[in-house]
Amino acid sequence: MKVLVTGGAGYIGSHCLVELIQAGFEPVVFDNLSNASRESMARVEQITGQTVSFVQGDIRDAQALEGLFTAHRFDAVLHLAGLKAVGESVAKPLTYYDNNVVGTVRLLEAMTAHGCLNIVFSSSATVYGDPQTLPIDEAQPVGGTTNPYGTSKYQIERMLGDWAAATASARVIALRYFNPVGAHPSGLIGEDPQGIPNNLMPYVQQVAAGKLACLSVFGDDYDTIDGTGVRDYLHVVDLARGHLAALNKLAQMDPGKTAVNLGTGNGLSVLQLIHAFEAACGAPLAYKVAPRRPGDIAACYADPRFAQRWLGWSATLDLTAMCEDAWRWQSTNPSGYSPA
Ligand code: NAD
Ligand code: WQD
Repeated sequence: MKVLVTGGAGYIGSHCLVELIQAGFEPVVFDNLSNASRESMARVEQITGQTVSFVQGDIRDAQALEGLFTAHRFDAVLHLAGLKAVGESVAKPLTYYDNNVVGTVRLLEAMTAHGCLNIVFSSSATVYGDPQTLPIDEAQPVGGTTNPYGTSKYQIERMLGDWAAATASARVIALRYFNPVGAHPSGLIGEDPQGIPNNLMPYVQQVAAGKLACLSVFGDDYDTIDGTGVRDYLHVVDLARGHLAALNKLAQMDPGKTAVNLGTGNGLSVLQLIHAFEAACGAPLAYKVAPRRPGDIAACYADPRFAQRWLGWSATLDLTAMCEDAWRWQSTNPSGYSPA
């Protein structure tokens, strides 16, 4: 099965590539390297012992997509390309709608023109906004998003649904990721954020490595187990395997669009995550309580039962593996993919 992987050089994409190659799929990466490095592809090759087919290009570039779909006959697309920084999306909403939404329009046009009608899309639990009940199942309302990034994911999901309804035989799976963390157990690939990380786990990793002085815990007065925010952290290798399950499902599902949560179902507080990471890296982490971060919600975790039932997928790697693998990547690659 030949699969186009947009955004395949990024954090989640590189982990998907390893699982795809090891399962015998034939991936072709299309990435503009706006938030990634060619080195991640070299590392995937090192892990798998196989050459990665890589094309540098932008999903908004119709001509580049035409060339790509003319050169390859894809059975399916894994569509991970997108910008993902919540704060930046508030400051630059048009950049986010252009890159994420317009980029997906261009991609779907190329797919339609070339008769490639199978797509797995990287959506996000952010489409649920502030959830009405926990755990969050797929029947909960979506669209109450609180920032342009989240809204772009919601709009793309709507567009994919409309496209599937209008296009006979089109099959769409929207994977709503909860909070991916960790790294490949080899320590060769992982998350390589540019500048100061926005997300908790990469921030924790850099405090542990001595690159950042102290973690700010955003609020300790939420109605949660210890007052800090609760999230559903899942290992990126589990997440990558969820993509494999989705690709395999495309061939068996009815035409149309289906959304699936990918999470563990376990809610974990900021303090619980900090303490698990301290155990993994063997040292205490400096942190202080700071005000709540605007736009944050108290708690968010998945009802993962539909993924289990429909995709036959569930998370298998625990919090210890998430922290140990994240720490292995961080401590052996202190500058990420850049030369030290
Ligand atoms: P990432 O930034 O590491 O990967 C995204 C990749 O897309 C990068 O390699 C980037 O260079 C590429 N890209 C961006 N815009 C592009 C464009 N116009 N054309 C071609 N390539 C482009 O991020 P990630 O964490 O690997 O996330 C992958 C996908 O999963 C994104 O769509 C993201 O929104 C979604 N997602 C991520 C998380 C998370 O917490 N990491 C959670 C939910 C959903
Ligand atoms: C987790 C918890 C913070 C940083 C974001 C996006 C979401 C999705 C995943 C893509 C919260 C707390 C964080 C810090 C902290 N991305 N925190 N100090 O906010 O759940 O989700 O990434 O789709 O759309 O919104 O993840 O890692 O930023 O925060 O205390 O320095 O850690 O308040 O409770 P979040 P996160």
